[in-house]
Amino acid sequence: MIDLKQMAGLGIKLDEKTNALVFGAGLSKIVPGVRTLENMKRVLLEPECEGPEKVYFMYRGLSEKGGIRFDITVIPAGFLGKEYVKTLGHYHPPAESGLSGLPQMQKARTPKTPAEHQKGVSYPEVYEVLSGQALYLLQKRKDGKNLVLEDIILVRAKPGDKVLIPPDYGHITVNAGRETLVMSNLVYSDFQSVYEPFLEAGGAGYYIVKGKSGGRELEKNKKYQRVPKPREARPLAIPVLGLEEKPLYLVFRQDPRIFEYLKNPGKYGKALFWF
Ligand SMILES: [Fe+2]
Repeated sequence: MIDLKQMAGLGIKLDEKTNALVFGAGLSKIVPGVRTLENMKRVLLEPECEGPEKVYFMYRGLSEKGGIRFDITVIPAGFLGKEYVKTLGHYHPPAESGLSGLPQMQKARTPKTPAEHQKGVSYPEVYEVLSGQALYLLQKRKDGKNLVLEDIILVRAKPGDKVLIPPDYGHITVNAGRETLVMSNLVYSDFQSVYEPFLEAGGAGYYIVKGKSGGRELEKNKKYQRVPKPREARPLAIPVLGLEEKPLYLVFRQDPRIFEYLKNPGKYGKALFWF
């Protein structure tokens, strides 16, 4: 068992043999949602590859306060063909309040076309690594076109690191390490993730694969019309956004209002673009 209490701020352990979370006293036992190999096929470099039937496990809603939800995801190490195990990938929809500052009536208006959606500011998210190593790939579409990317960021994160996904960046998480990756996230609880762009594109702009020499390599996804060279960013502590040394869960439980930007990102302008 790996005790995650110190790192997570709540009494949970990881059973390394089964990759299941074990909840301590006082915590409700959540049944995880499972992403299967079958679910993942359309975003893989090798869709017919061999791999684990159950790829990763999503424990949603361990805590919820003020419209913000705290989740944990467990991603066992391994490969899906040549690729390191990863999440399916998604974008978030535009936040209604992304239009804040405009008169009330316009605020409530919902964008009607995909291109118009991109003008709105989408919901951000915060990730935190609890155990293992994560590689986050963040990508931004140009003018809302699913197959044209204007920016790609790679962020390597270790236990304790917090990574803010700014508005309008689609994201995948890759477990490019040898151990099970356990990560938490905080996100606004009232929206549905948008998976279609990743399904259409057959994954993110790059596949993270095991190279011939055994190391990690990036392989460009040829289904995109344009994929920029990735930029690397390091996780950054941003105390005003609740991203500090302390576990995310404890900061959240103490005062969820600090994460108001997850609900109303439009008010925060460039402050959420940290890289
Ligand atoms: Fe997300």
